[in-house]
Amino acid sequence: MSTGRITLTMIKPFAVKEHHVGEILSYIEKAGFHIRALKMTQMPMEKAEKFYAEHQGKPFFKELTEFMSSGPVVAAILEKDNAVLDFRTLIGSTDPSKAAEGTIRRMFAKDMTRNAIHGSDSDESASRECRFFFSSMEEFSY
Ligand code: RTP
Ligand code: MG
Repeated sequence: MSTGRITLTMIKPFAVKEHHVGEILSYIEKAGFHIRALKMTQMPMEKAEKFYAEHQGKPFFKELTEFMSSGPVVAAILEKDNAVLDFRTLIGSTDPSKAAEGTIRRMFAKDMTRNAIHGSDSDESASRECRFFFSSMEEFSY
């Protein structure tokens, strides 16, 4: 299955605090993704709950939203052919102990919650998530 040209990423709070922003963005650009939009921002709890609304009611929801609102994230809109799937391959499995060698989560994640980075899971999620963080004045095409 191929996907569209746009995906949304967030470098998660722990990876920002540990000074991995530059290195992670470098891996992303070297893998062929163009950065169309970029910002550092902190989500209040209600925003984190809205962003991850699909997981409401699951046992990990509280830990996930507390963590994601605990500090700044670096959000970016990325462009490349087959962006959603190729980016999920670049970041690796949700559980970093299962993430393949060379993936961003394998290199920078600590555990299932502190798994370093987010990637949209479909074109529909990517569209919603891009508008969640960015206005059209903050996004640039190539
Ligand atoms: P993300 O949305 O953050 O990119 O992660 P993902 O697609 O790989 O995983 P997803 O299923 O969307 O889950 C969102 C985040 O919730 C935590 N999680 N914990 N304990 C568990 O079984 C469990 N499952 C998910 C992870 O931190 C995951 O990134
Ligand atoms: Mg997800």
